[in-house]
Amino acid sequence: MAESWVNSAERIGADLHLELSGSGSRRAALIHALRDAVRSGRLAPGTRLPPYRSLAADLGVARNTVADAYAELVAEGWLTARQGSGTRVAERAAPPPRVRVPKRAPAARNAPPPHHLIQGQPDAGSFPRTAWLAAARRALTAAPNDAFGPGDPRGRIELRRALADYLARARGVRTDPERIVVCSGFAHALRLLFGTAGSGGGVLRGPLAVEAYGLGFHRSILDAARVRTVPLPLDEHGARVEELAAMTGPVRAVLLTPAHQFPTGGPLHPERRAAVVDWARTHSGLVLEDDYDGEFRYDREPVGAVQGLDPERVVYVGSVSKSLSPAVRLGWLVLPEHLVDAVVTAKGEREAWASAPDQLTLAELIESGQYDRHVRRMRQRYRRRRDQLVAALAEHAPHITVTGIAAGLHAVLRLPPGTEASAVKAAAWHGVGLEGLASYRHPAATATAPDGLVVGYATPPEHAYAAALDALCRALPPA
Ligand SMILES: Cc1ncc(COP(=O)(O)O)c(C=O)c1O
Repeated sequence: MAESWVNSAERIGADLHLELSGSGSRRAALIHALRDAVRSGRLAPGTRLPPYRSLAADLGVARNTVADAYAELVAEGWLTARQGSGTRVAERAAPPPRVRVPKRAPAARNAPPPHHLIQGQPDAGSFPRTAWLAAARRALTAAPNDAFGPGDPRGRIELRRALADYLARARGVRTDPERIVVCSGFAHALRLLFGTAGSGGGVLRGPLAVEAYGLGFHRSILDAARVRTVPLPLDEHGARVEELAAMTGPVRAVLLTPAHQFPTGGPLHPERRAAVVDWARTHSGLVLEDDYDGEFRYDREPVGAVQGLDPERVVYVGSVSKSLSPAVRLGWLVLPEHLVDAVVTAKGEREAWASAPDQLTLAELIESGQYDRHVRRMRQRYRRRRDQLVAALAEHAPHITVTGIAAGLHAVLRLPPGTEASAVKAAAWHGVGLEGLASYRHPAATATAPDGLVVGYATPPEHAYAAALDALCRALPPA
């Protein structure tokens, strides 16, 4: 017989996985399997075994087969049977389970460090489970039947309507639902726009100007699509967009994080926002706006989207990866009119990326005001964390300047020249996971940003944050 899962309705402490193999009798196979489970420690001393009838039903054997097997193992001393308390594994010390100790610890890939300050994730413990479930219940109850059929590649109209209102209200985006295409996040948007390895190209062609510091993962998506990226230097006002006109290539598109440069942390200066749109108008160019954490601005009014300056020259991309969770995989492109059909065609005839029930749930979350409420709550929480970080540094490492703190879920700690790599190592030694600015640098960037540590302050659970800050402060280079 193949394997079977054995469950007892009674409390036996654990499900039994018994494999009745071999060509002998069922009785012998069951005795062997149970003996093996006790010997290996899988069935601990005192564990109550299922009654004959339920184990027999689960294994597809006769009740007497189980009774005989139990009796045999009681006689051998492996099991005990007492009136009223059923059959249990004998209390005598079972030989310790044989555990093979690997010679080397398995590669700790993706294992989180004890103090997780690597930027990238919002606080997973704050996902609004109750609000999401309630929104899903309302949305799916009201959904028309066609919501459960093959989906429209533009995305559900309910979500596109909700997003058009929300983005206009919260981010200053000028659009209507017909210009919005739902996707699974920014990474997906990049693949739709530029194609994937072997796809023969996307809607747009390279070369593409990108900020000299940015997410390597996004550069690798572009590399895979054979799109050449050209680094645009940064200064304290953000990307030096005035250098676009002189770029050879010719460069017709630029990817920017205008609300909060990723990862150095400042907003694009208002004059540069206007200048990049002018460049796009005069060079038949396009600005790709990655608004990855635009909702989280702390010290002033939110910096609105560049898209609002010229919806025909800017592709605006957002997602719920920072505001809700990167696990939801929902995002959106707000497109100039001339690109809508091409992007929808690139998506394919049917929705293959974004679950329609999740789209409806997000639409309901936004329409009911719960999304705004969640963002406001998280903004307060992250602002508090940022303030704790700033206060801890002021107390324990006043020689370290912290920048990029007006927005987002990470800050940059400026370090003395030449100390970044050793500071990252020292942090690791103290159990603190974080990255230096160098790991975000475009390989062809000519200018180098000052040394700095990128501290993601949203990731640790609430109870672990203070300890993470203590460890960080201990790890920082002395004055
Ligand atoms: C710079 C930047 N852009 C965009 C995103 C969002 O990516 P996605 O929507 O694919 O999860 C992230 C990560 O959350 C990011 O760090």
